[in-house]
Amino acid sequence: MIRLVAGNWKMNGSLAANRVLLDGLGALPGVETAVCVPYPYLAQLQQRPEGLALGAQDVSEYVAGAYTGEVGGSMLADFGCRYVIVGHSERRALFGEDDLTVGRKARAALEAGLVPIVCVGETLDERDAGNALVVIDRQLGAVREVLGVAAMGGVVVAYEPVWAIGSGRSASVEQVAEVHVAIRAWLREQGVAAGGVRILYGGSVKPDNAAALFAVVDVDGGLIGGASLVAQDFMAICRAAAEAA
Ligand code: PGA
Repeated sequence: MIRLVAGNWKMNGSLAANRVLLDGLGALPGVETAVCVPYPYLAQLQQRPEGLALGAQDVSEYVAGAYTGEVGGSMLADFGCRYVIVGHSERRALFGEDDLTVGRKARAALEAGLVPIVCVGETLDERDAGNALVVIDRQLGAVREVLGVAAMGGVVVAYEPVWAIGSGRSASVEQVAEVHVAIRAWLREQGVAAGGVRILYGGSVKPDNAAALFAVVDVDGGLIGGASLVAQDFMAICRAAAEAA
């Protein structure tokens, strides 16, 4: 399975800054690369380095109509998006998205021909209470409940421990291994074609820890926040993923 490295620009960028960043990006053999950008920049990203896939950071659970402020999956597809992040912990924590909403967003993405990158992960309190895997089972279970088993095989899962996001403190390789192996096993138990589902790790992935994280069992790529805003760092992480093959 070819690894996927997806940049999550979050609410960052400007036409001018994006142009500079894009100049430093390019596709690499042996790894799939994508950038998930704010909606207004999807138009700008129609011109981008060849082989770099495009994604968004959210999608409406609705198809079209009277939903002021929402952006539908078909609109993202119109702009050539292949991926869309759903259920990022910032959306869950700051914008009240619950597990089933995330499931409906994943369904809307698939129905529009997009690949949802479904984010799951525990808070530090949940980890300290020994509940990391329980939380992840619950989050994934809601998505499976909405999608059904067959469609679940068409998603990308991103394990992003909330405490590792933007903190400069990535999960350890042991912690990542435990969760990724558990996610793959959970998918298999549910009857999902688990071998084909890419499981990304996200949370303070940087050039200096990327190789170690991509070498972990069942890590099929990364979801990169802060480091995706620095071309050199993002490319170094993509190179680490290509070389980990
Ligand atoms: P980070 O963010 O790489 O800045 O920790 C990851 C994410 O939120 O997807």
